[in-house]
Amino acid sequence: MDSAITQRPSFSTLIRTASHEQHTEAESSSFMSDLLGGLLDVSAYARYTEQLWFVYRALEDAAQTLREDPVAGPFIQPELARVAELERDLAHLRGPDWRAGLSALPATAAYAARVEECARTWPGGYVAHHYTRYLGDLSGGQIIRGKAEQTWGFARKGDGVRFYVFEGISNPAAFKRGYRELLDGLDAVVPDELEKQRIVDECKFAFVLNTAVFRELGGEFPLSA
Ligand code: HEM
Repeated sequence: MDSAITQRPSFSTLIRTASHEQHTEAESSSFMSDLLGGLLDVSAYARYTEQLWFVYRALEDAAQTLREDPVAGPFIQPELARVAELERDLAHLRGPDWRAGLSALPATAAYAARVEECARTWPGGYVAHHYTRYLGDLSGGQIIRGKAEQTWGFARKGDGVRFYVFEGISNPAAFKRGYRELLDGLDAVVPDELEKQRIVDECKFAFVLNTAVFRELGGEFPLSA
């Protein structure tokens, strides 16, 4: 057996390390920093939550058709679904007519369109988007929830922050371990190294798309200071 092959990093390690730089960039965007720093009004948080709704609609509308797909299917797990939670949060943030005032920023529309395109034409690309969002929500999302509760007074794990609460996942660390095993399992269904690299590249692109949404949100909610 070729030792260079046996020693190569697992796919979950590869995708995490390859997107590390983009993660830092997304994390340190001025909109996120201001939001987490408690410097923005709750309307900025509501506007951000609206943008998430468009992205998760795209991710989850595809779930039914991709469930049987050998590449994307194993990732589709009902306990991850977020649209219902986002809708409860939006009803709390914007009131019962929340749908009427909803609009996607151009960057959000582009992001959702790319997710839809992957879902329709490229299951591997869909996995890249799935990973970028859901594993992030299970990780840094928990930091955002705590800050949001603290800053705008939402009930702990209640309306307004339900998006960050995974009722069906009692042990997020264990769930993430299982998710990484699914990523590593891609080796069996995606043996082509080039295709795996394309998936990693799509993950980096997913971060770029998220950062673009933050940039436009930052434009809407600039700090006057
Ligand atoms: C201020 C915002 C953010 C904070 C504070 C944050 C924080 C974190 C932390 C602490 C982890 C590590 C968890 C662990 O090792 O288990 C993590 C992982 C992750 N984050 Fe973020 N994050 C933020 C924004 C984002 C954004 C915008 C995305 C992409 C949409 C994202 C995607 C991810 C992903 C995919 C992982 C999992 C990496 C892996 O273990 O494979 N994060 N985040």
